[in-house]
Amino acid sequence: ADTKVYRASTTAPVNIAVVKYWGKRDAKLNLPTNSSLSVTLSQSDLRTLTTASCSSTYTGDDSLLLNGEPSDVSGARTQACFRELRVRRAALEAANAALPKLSTFPLKIVSENNFPTAAGLASSAAGFAALVQAIANLYELPDSPSELSLIARQGSGSACRSLFGGYVAWRMGEKEDGSDSKADLVAPASHWPSMRALILVVSASKKGVSSTSGMQQTVATSGLFQQRISTVVPANMALMEDAIKNRNFPQFAEVTMRDSNSFHATCADTYPPIFYMNDVSKAAIRAVEAINAQAGKTVAAYTFDAGPNCVVYYQEEDAATVLGAFAPLLATAEGWKDGSVVNASVK
Ligand code: PMV
Repeated sequence: ADTKVYRASTTAPVNIAVVKYWGKRDAKLNLPTNSSLSVTLSQSDLRTLTTASCSSTYTGDDSLLLNGEPSDVSGARTQACFRELRVRRAALEAANAALPKLSTFPLKIVSENNFPTAAGLASSAAGFAALVQAIANLYELPDSPSELSLIARQGSGSACRSLFGGYVAWRMGEKEDGSDSKADLVAPASHWPSMRALILVVSASKKGVSSTSGMQQTVATSGLFQQRISTVVPANMALMEDAIKNRNFPQFAEVTMRDSNSFHATCADTYPPIFYMNDVSKAAIRAVEAINAQAGKTVAAYTFDAGPNCVVYYQEEDAATVLGAFAPLLATAEGWKDGSVVNASVK
């Protein structure tokens, strides 16, 4: 009998959207109401490292150890990823009788983040991307990153964008089965090597309203949201792709800031309203405005996800200006956590 332990490891980086995903048209398949676009941060700064193994000698159900703690895998999202990957492996095994029957063995997944979980950064994107890529490697699947993004999307929507480095679009697609709702590469990181991200951790605590619940409430109650998905986001996607293509930082920055503001406006227009940004977040917005005014041109752009932490995009040549302006603020202002700044490049 085959008693071997089969094993594969991979890493997946965090991505931060500059045109935000907010709203599901199908909650089960994680199909979005709009396309989105993100920047993948460098692996050395923020990433999940995942090892997947399987063996006929493993007993019991599939399991996941996350940062050393057993984690529940019975949720529909994780189960969907396991199922889809097994189906693909089983197809390979059916076509080639010589292949070991890995699809029939229990899976053991071990996952670690290299950034403190306490940093309060959304880790589900890197987490599901690494989980899917590690099992795909273990199963020796021939699927491209775009094809694997269809699976990662079912774990966490934003995870589909972490299968690629650089500048990544998630095309919403039109099909009911989600087969065209996947990620593709807009430009590799090498296209714009000077891009940097500064992550300002306002709060390490877990977000108040989960993205799934927040999206559901916004879709159900916000009128502004209808305008966002019909006109604001399609325009922002086109402007953002153009800004990236031309390495036009002022345009990249304006669309990033406007899209973050638009997303948080639909949250405020949700009934009852959802507030992810707090007073410290708003101080970060004012600080970025002051930096740009002082510089006489746009050198920094803020963006916020479903929580109060701020990500500031800037270019290497403006590092002294941007970091220098934030340094006194971080030293004196209340609300910023100790060791709360992560300076990342783009992967
Ligand atoms: O992938 P989720 O369900 O965690 O949603 C992510 C939503 C935002 O981070 C607010 C926006 C985005 O596009 O990443």
